[in-house]
Amino acid sequence: MWKLKSTSRRSESTSVPILQDVSGRFTDKRHISLSAFGRKHLNRSRAWFNEPRLARLLGRTKTISVREHQQWFSELAHRQDCRYFAIESGKSLRHVGNVWLWAIDASNRKAELRIVIGEKDCVEQGIGTAAIKLLCRYAFNIMKLHKVYSYVHVTNRRARRAFEKAGFAVDGLLRDDRCIRGRFVSVHMLSRISHA
Ligand SMILES: CC(C)(COP(=O)(O)OP(=O)(O)OC[C@H]1O[C@@H](n2cnc3c(N)ncnc32)[C@H](O)[C@@H]1OP(=O)(O)O)[C@@H](O)C(=O)NCCC(=O)NCCS
Repeated sequence: MWKLKSTSRRSESTSVPILQDVSGRFTDKRHISLSAFGRKHLNRSRAWFNEPRLARLLGRTKTISVREHQQWFSELAHRQDCRYFAIESGKSLRHVGNVWLWAIDASNRKAELRIVIGEKDCVEQGIGTAAIKLLCRYAFNIMKLHKVYSYVHVTNRRARRAFEKAGFAVDGLLRDDRCIRGRFVSVHMLSRISHA
């Protein structure tokens, strides 16, 4: 199902093959991997999503219980609007974050990309940028999407920089788009087009 078919040489997204092992894991030259999200990734992910700073950046408002988290996981495999991956680092495959396509819109061939590097000692080492690039290759080469976009709070300079390094450009500013703890926050919409 995830077999790579590279059809164009016009951009990195369509010309660079994804290194894929027998388990379906995608790896880049720096040993940053995306693997299908599994049960073994659950506990760490729940801890990240319940961490107030990360929850705020990801637009979550309430604590996730173990039961809710397991319920979410059991439904994940059946969802058509979401593809969820664990980000693993190094040959030891340390689980350092998650990245996923959300609101997959097959008619318009686009999806939103969301990402979290949850392990504090792993931020700002290029892992986020690498994971965004890998997921874009998957989205463009395998799912044949045309556009991947993301919403980034204007205050989240690190995320904006990571997306821009991964080939995204700012499409526009959504003024006062989110209300976080009673304060409105503007959001940049960034996107990357498959052949751009
Ligand atoms: C945003 C996130 C995914 C980025 O991943 P990362 O691995 O930390 O980022 P990278 O190391 O690939 O790139 C970060 C870049 O931002 C730069 N940066 C960091 N703080 C910055 C700031 N205040 N202003 C400008 N640039 C900044 C870094 O220097 C680096 O750029 P460089 O390589 O040119 O030096 C990760 O930090 C994260 O999960 N944050 C919390 C959740 C989140 O914000 N998710 C995004 C919402 S969709």
